[in-house]
Amino acid sequence: MDLTGKAAIVTGSGRGLGLSYAAELARHGAAVVINDVDPEVAEAAVRGIVDAGGRATAVVAPVGSAEAADALVATAVREFGRLDVLVTNAGILRDKSLLKMTDDDFDQVIAVHLRGTFTCVRSAFGYFKESETPGRIVAIGSPTGQRGNFGQTNYAAAKAGIVGMVRTWALEMARSGVLVNAVVPVASTAMTRTVPYFAAAIEAEDAGLAMPDFFRKDLGFGTADDVAGLVAFLASDDAAGINGQVIGVGGDRIQLWSHPEPVLSVIAEGGWDAERIADEFAPQLRENLQSVGEKFPTLPPELDRSGA
Ligand SMILES: NC(=O)c1ccc[n+]([C@@H]2O[C@H](COP(=O)([O-])OP(=O)(O)OC[C@H]3O[C@@H](n4cnc5c(N)ncnc54)[C@H](O)[C@@H]3O)[C@@H](O)[C@H]2O)c1
Repeated sequence: MDLTGKAAIVTGSGRGLGLSYAAELARHGAAVVINDVDPEVAEAAVRGIVDAGGRATAVVAPVGSAEAADALVATAVREFGRLDVLVTNAGILRDKSLLKMTDDDFDQVIAVHLRGTFTCVRSAFGYFKESETPGRIVAIGSPTGQRGNFGQTNYAAAKAGIVGMVRTWALEMARSGVLVNAVVPVASTAMTRTVPYFAAAIEAEDAGLAMPDFFRKDLGFGTADDVAGLVAFLASDDAAGINGQVIGVGGDRIQLWSHPEPVLSVIAEGGWDAERIADEFAPQLRENLQSVGEKFPTLPPELDRSGA
């Protein structure tokens, strides 16, 4: 898997998963544009890649606006002469249950994740099309966007929206040779370290130990580096033919997500009024109700820190 001679942008790559993606792309030979709102972590990320023998530069800017997106693409072209890969990873959380969520909580999360992905992909695709580059786009989703999660109205909207855009872009970009896929990661980062359910896994990581198998295998939860190989693969020539897919990875587990499909189709001559729905469709509907929410297996007692 060789990315030598290619150039990549990873948004939000000063820390966490983005940093692992950037380091992994660089390790395979790509020059990387690091992006973050925090100048210190952005500079440290560039230093880390350069010290390891790679090429990197930083753009400190909040993704969301068209200007920031254009600046990222222009920097890749100016510094490295080209752009081949875009990973839209930057993200924030503003979790609150619905009645407590303010307009600002909603708008901020939508601006970084949904608008940030839209504007960066639009700029990168413009470049790919004009330069006839068979580019690779990796957008970052979340189990919350796939399934819903308590307290995450804004984040669920943004992440489900990102996967909706990926499905649409896979159609729009198909003829240009550009591939666009979504990755649904689960990993220990600043974003997840404080979730009580993961406490025993974080404890192991902080002690320099491997996380227990329950987390790595049953739950699919591991380190940020566990996710990076999938991003490098999707960025490479080896990913030829893979387009519009949603792939989840965490710990030792990798998964292909399905796209929504109708699970029950019933035809009635003349259509469905409310009474007919109540009489004929509702009984079948009740037998086929779809589940919502992420499925967390019960923690084995020895890994449950909730009572500690
Ligand atoms: N950690 C997980 O288990 C998990 C699960 C599902 C999805 N994700 C997604 O993965 C991505 C990375 O998450 P993480 O866990 O590494 O989070 P993180 O908080 O550790 O890192 C996110 C980085 O993005 C930067 N950032 C925030 N707003 C930005 C903006 N407007 N422009 C540029 N940079 C910005 C932050 O400064 C930070 O360095 C996010 O999109 C997140 O939603 C993470």
